[in-house]
Amino acid sequence: MLIAPSILSADFGNLKAEIIAICEAGCDLVHVDVMDGHFVPNLTIGPVVVSAVAKAATKPLDIHLMVENNTFFVDLFAPIKPKYISFHIEEEKHPHRLIQKIRDYGISPAITLNPHTSLSSIEYLLEDLDMVLLMSVNPGFGGQKFIPSVLEKSAALKEMILRKNVKTLIEVDGGVNDKNILELKKAGVDIVVAGNYVFGSNDYQKAIASLKV
Ligand code: DX5
Ligand code: ZN
Repeated sequence: MLIAPSILSADFGNLKAEIIAICEAGCDLVHVDVMDGHFVPNLTIGPVVVSAVAKAATKPLDIHLMVENNTFFVDLFAPIKPKYISFHIEEEKHPHRLIQKIRDYGISPAITLNPHTSLSSIEYLLEDLDMVLLMSVNPGFGGQKFIPSVLEKSAALKEMILRKNVKTLIEVDGGVNDKNILELKKAGVDIVVAGNYVFGSNDYQKAIASLKV
């Protein structure tokens, strides 16, 4: 299992030290939640702060866009050269075009699905995607309760991936902890995002290690 701590739960007054600490504690990616106050009822950080995060990080960035105007935000964050940019399928009229745009920047494209969104929405995009991000909470806030239906959804997505013989990874975001990590593994998940569980602990290394199943 690869671990991507969400910096939404980090101490923003001490952000550089927090980024260095999770990278040294053995995380695989640094998950950055970009919220615009329109697609979700919360507002986070823009390219100035994300550039500072990228400078401090020794692990690649995983940018999760929760915004209304995806193309505008892709253009804004692409120069930071994250490993992944994911956008919500619920908010995109031309996902295939946007996937190509992200790839043309040399970035791995990913699509995010809200808890209610069916896998059929990405079935014919799967071969073009490096990752699918399944939300296991309603997007907008850290520290929410895990929605267990994501387990069935992930297992079905894994089946779809195998049937289509593609290499797309499955990432799950929201409410992940040491209690549900084994079930997530069994459901075919490759990467978990964990905000509150990692940053709420007093030993980041131990918290990250406990998710590496
Ligand atoms: C929610 C964000 C998540 C969130 C996860 O909108 O996408 O990345 O920070 O936080 P936890 O792990 O606390 O649920
Ligand atoms: Zn996220």
